[in-house]
Amino acid sequence: MFMKTINLPPYAPTLMESTRAIGYSVEAAIADIIDNSLTAQATKIDIDFFPIGDEYIAIIDNGYGMTSDQITTAMQYGSKNPNEVRDLNDLGRYGLGLKTASLSQCRKLSVISVCQGQISGRQWDLDFIQEVGEWSLLVLDYEDIVKLPCIEKLKPLEKGTLVIWQNLDKLSIGEIDFAASLGKKMDIVRDHLSLVFHRYLTGEPGLKKVELRINERPVIAADPFLTNKSTQIMDAEIINLRGDQVIVKPYILPHISKISEAEIKALGGKEGLRRQQGFYVYRNKRLLVWGTWFRLMRQGDLSKLARVQVDIPNSLDDLWTLDIKKSTAIPPEEVRRNLSNIIKKITDGSKRTWTFRGKKEMDDSRTHLWNRIKARDCGIFYEINRDHLMVDEIFRKYPEIKSQLKNLLCQIEGTIPLNQLYIDLTNDEKINNDIHIDETMIMETIKSILDDFESTDTKTAMLDNLKITDPFCEYLDIIDQAIENGELI
Ligand SMILES: Nc1ncnc2c1ncn2[C@@H]1O[C@H](COP(=O)(O)OP(=O)(O)OP(=O)(O)O)[C@@H](O)[C@H]1O
Ligand SMILES: [Mg+2]
Repeated sequence: MFMKTINLPPYAPTLMESTRAIGYSVEAAIADIIDNSLTAQATKIDIDFFPIGDEYIAIIDNGYGMTSDQITTAMQYGSKNPNEVRDLNDLGRYGLGLKTASLSQCRKLSVISVCQGQISGRQWDLDFIQEVGEWSLLVLDYEDIVKLPCIEKLKPLEKGTLVIWQNLDKLSIGEIDFAASLGKKMDIVRDHLSLVFHRYLTGEPGLKKVELRINERPVIAADPFLTNKSTQIMDAEIINLRGDQVIVKPYILPHISKISEAEIKALGGKEGLRRQQGFYVYRNKRLLVWGTWFRLMRQGDLSKLARVQVDIPNSLDDLWTLDIKKSTAIPPEEVRRNLSNIIKKITDGSKRTWTFRGKKEMDDSRTHLWNRIKARDCGIFYEINRDHLMVDEIFRKYPEIKSQLKNLLCQIEGTIPLNQLYIDLTNDEKINNDIHIDETMIMETIKSILDDFESTDTKTAMLDNLKITDPFCEYLDIIDQAIENGELI
């Protein structure tokens, strides 16, 4: 038996106006449009904006484009079902982004596309919708299309799409100097895109490198892991879920004194460095959420150098809670459990870099000047290694001052200004003790140690020892060079 039904579509003017308030920021809205370009396999994307007169923001890509029917479908709210299986590289999910992201910022959205030798265009104009009270999509003919801004950039392309936002009411609310404020907002957009799409901007195996420009100026990738300088403390961990893989790769950033001003800026500034610790979750290589531990642990000063790359494929979309703007995502229980275990290992590593500068001091195959002794009941003790070659040399050469020297070492160990050090480190103060030792000083010290030994055999043995001893092990190149030149033996 069939029930009686009433077909009740939403009233267009109200629904379109209210979905404008989903809460997109301008940077998230533009990123959503770029998602579409990347899904369409674009390799060149231009964002052009103009704040004066008939102001606009335009996004032009050289992706595969759309036929006129395809643009019509694309303009429909809910053009694809979120439960439909998507291509592996599809960055979309809800069938809404093009409309909701655009109309959250402007009142007039035009989409023009070149495909199969045809150019076609459609337009949503909220003022027109108000007037007619219906879902009336405007069909642009060639005369309308050629009058649009940036059309000159699309026309020469064999295929591609131009998205134009006009009548930027949301961006101009409360602004006295619209041109200046739009310029500032576009700076934020630039920073956002350089981070969110950094892997596309750099290119990596399986991912074509993409050129992105804002008003002709390239957007440069901001790698939140400083991959070339960071320590990857453990191998990538793979979490298997329903036959798909979530890949987790933890990084520990170098200590702040080892990174340049420009790199600090790219990492979010000194404040950002702390706030942006945590997971960096990528969906199809596009950064979705970052700087959170998903409440699996507290953000703290000592874990501030830890950043964990988490890669999820779009086939697991239904397990993650993903919002329409794609700006929040919460991992499923099963993944969270695995992440907790990983966190433990990571924070131990991050604390180590933070309190103990680098892994070298901790690497047990080497001899250090400072030893970190962990006693079972009485905590941690930092002691100067009495067996270190340089200490040992003085003991041997000057037995008459041995006891004074021992006293001095005890004094030094007992008076390390620990509290002040802690404050300086957590304040990101540059600490100049961590200087690079002059190479001539290293060579002089080595020669002086070797001088005490007669035979080539003992000298050679001593040299082998030196090579695994701090700080000499940092200068293997020049030591080997000196050996080759016959300067040492
Ligand atoms: N630049 C583009 N090039 C080619 N096709 C596009 C482009 N932009 C949008 N489309 C088409 O329009 C459709 C609708 O886009 P829209 O952003 O509204 O939804 P979606 O990307 O499918 O999902 P989401 O709401 O998660 O973004 C896309 O699925 C795609 O087929
Ligand atoms: Mg989309």
